[in-house]
Amino acid sequence: MMRKIGILTSGGDSPGMNAAIRAAVRSAIYYEMGVYGIYNGYEGLLNGDIEEMKLWSVSDILHRGGTILRTARSERFMTPEGHKRACDMLENFEIDGLIVIGGNGSLRGALDLSKHGITVMGIPGTIDNDLGYTDFSIGFDTAVNTVLGAISNVRDTSSSHERTTIIEVMGRHCGDIALHAGLTGGAEYIMIPEEEININELCRKILQGRKRGKRHSIIIKAEGVPTPSQELAEIIKERTGLETKIVVLAYIQRGGSPTARDRMLASMMGNKAVELIKDGSSSRAIGVSGGQIIDLGLEEALQMKRMYEKEMMHMADILSI
Ligand code: F6P
Repeated sequence: MMRKIGILTSGGDSPGMNAAIRAAVRSAIYYEMGVYGIYNGYEGLLNGDIEEMKLWSVSDILHRGGTILRTARSERFMTPEGHKRACDMLENFEIDGLIVIGGNGSLRGALDLSKHGITVMGIPGTIDNDLGYTDFSIGFDTAVNTVLGAISNVRDTSSSHERTTIIEVMGRHCGDIALHAGLTGGAEYIMIPEEEININELCRKILQGRKRGKRHSIIIKAEGVPTPSQELAEIIKERTGLETKIVVLAYIQRGGSPTARDRMLASMMGNKAVELIKDGSSSRAIGVSGGQIIDLGLEEALQMKRMYEKEMMHMADILSI
């Protein structure tokens, strides 16, 4: 019997999701499987918002941010009734393998379905890079590059006006965007949710930089850091006497054409998901480790805690004295 697989994207979108969809659709057709696009994540699965995909369904999307399958955060799905309905819907469409592209919550949803006997594959798609089992998730590299562009622009004007600027980036629990963009953008100070903030040290560093002739200070702060940016700006101004502005990058980081690295990662992961289904595997999480595409048990993968790169934080601190 010909296999039929479904693909959905769920949770916050990330640049490169389209490249992963394209890779999975093309690989499935190459292996003579039927392939179905499920629109609006798990919400669309519950509603039967499902359409067969052809080779041309994924033409001209490789370079586009967002997701052609659209996405949603579905509360309805997160209940035993939701899971049951999702399984019934897959059965109605005779879909016997499901590829889920998304972050932590989305892959947990896939794990729930696998416990009902559905063949599932999880592909990490989130700009936050907060999944413990993979070095990188699709969209992270693009987001870091977008933030980097913003840092360069802000640096120009901060320097002209001799200002301190706090640039707030995404990352609710994981400071990877802040750390990678902060380090490569030459930020004076990086604040991540994994480390306690030290305002005394921050102000000391700003003043020390001024003393040696720096005309600006850039602070990169992840959104998950508990102190609100406004409050932080007021404290800095009070203690250093320097004008302090705030830039919140928000959704700007989530869009845009994916970088070559994200397209490569997405292409390899989309292809791998289909190969694994073809070979009879189930319940696998696809990732990348040491530059190699890996797959491991979904349950085990989701239990792995993300360790932040403490040494990289330290290095960023040394390089910005
Ligand atoms: O999980 C990805 C993410 O972009 C987070 O960094 C951010 O906090 C959140 O999604 C925003 O979610 P929403 O699109 O629901 O506002």
